[in-house]
Amino acid sequence: MFAKRTNWNLTPNRLSEALAAHRAAGKPLVDLTVSNPTECGFEYDSSAILNALSNPAALSYEPNPKGLESARRAVAGYYADRGDAVAVEDIILTTSTSEAYSYIFRALCDPGEELLIPSPSYPLFDFLAEIQDVQLVRYPLVYDHGWQIDFHALEQAITPRTRGIIVVNPNNPTGHYAKQMEITKLNSICAERGLAIIADEVFLDFAVDGSRPVSFAANSGAPTFTLSGLSKICGLPQMKVAWLIAGGPQNWKSEALARLEIIADAYLSVNAPVQLGIPKFLEQRHAFQKQVISRVRRNLAELDRQLSAQKSVSRLKVEGGWCAVLWVPVTHSDEDLALTLLKEEGIYVHPGQFYDFSSCRSQIVSLLTPELQIAQGLSRILAFLR
Ligand SMILES: Cc1ncc(COP(=O)(O)O)c(C=O)c1O
Repeated sequence: MFAKRTNWNLTPNRLSEALAAHRAAGKPLVDLTVSNPTECGFEYDSSAILNALSNPAALSYEPNPKGLESARRAVAGYYADRGDAVAVEDIILTTSTSEAYSYIFRALCDPGEELLIPSPSYPLFDFLAEIQDVQLVRYPLVYDHGWQIDFHALEQAITPRTRGIIVVNPNNPTGHYAKQMEITKLNSICAERGLAIIADEVFLDFAVDGSRPVSFAANSGAPTFTLSGLSKICGLPQMKVAWLIAGGPQNWKSEALARLEIIADAYLSVNAPVQLGIPKFLEQRHAFQKQVISRVRRNLAELDRQLSAQKSVSRLKVEGGWCAVLWVPVTHSDEDLALTLLKEEGIYVHPGQFYDFSSCRSQIVSLLTPELQIAQGLSRILAFLR
């Protein structure tokens, strides 16, 4: 009765099962995977956020497939503040970056066509692609005193069915930004072969060193879609606001926007009260980002303090984002180690395989974890691995 694309294996993985059992038994848990910013103890200006939702203009309905112009102007203002010129008419609002991906996948790919994704990276792509009948092909990122794209392997992964290359900037969970040299190379590969760059920049603003990394939003060297949204920028995932920006050669951009506008018109998915609140929500980002960056820095300093007292575990370099990759000795598979840490120590971490790490030496911890919790969790992991 059902489409083959929904023939998912719905049995929970071993770690999720063990976590559910651990919780059901009421055992203490040090969760080092927390990523919901609304539950990490950050302060929000509640009245500003709630007031932004009570604009009387929300009492009338003005459907606009791209989203209300006032809201898109605020998004363009966000880019202008970081020095990137983005035109209001090049922005389309969506309820999530996942929805933005789905619009783009539908506009770019016929069933069975391919998109390249980085490996390691964020695990959601597999589902998004499957739902849209898109095939994903991985291109490796390599680590050598920092992460970079393996361009030789990337070019070899391109086939006549490839329609675009996804870049996560900074990547989750490796936390590395696309460098200008890499952007130039991606532009030349994509422009030459008629491929689109799809740049996910939800963590763009969270550079650990406080720098302002290059965005793809104003990229003109190749067909480009840039995605971002309020869930990370402002720590407001519950508002369900994201966007995509089309950029690149003018003819391509106009065609892309015309097609995407029709997809967006079929759903008209972003509601009016939230769209009217976007300017105010975006104002909240400064206070939110300041708290996150300072927690991330304190957590990294604590990790480094503890790691410097031993030799078996280290961490990979983090440029931005909300995660750190611990590099542990090979004992069992990374999933087995995560299971053992959960069952024996009550510590919850994500094994690297969740993010497509090929080595079994990585365990991922969230740097949004409150400071005491991460200090306690790490010291128990290190004692366990000693
Ligand atoms: C790289 C990346 N892109 C997109 C998302 C999801 O963003 P949204 O809430 O806008 O769908 C996440 C969520 O963790 C993410 O890590």
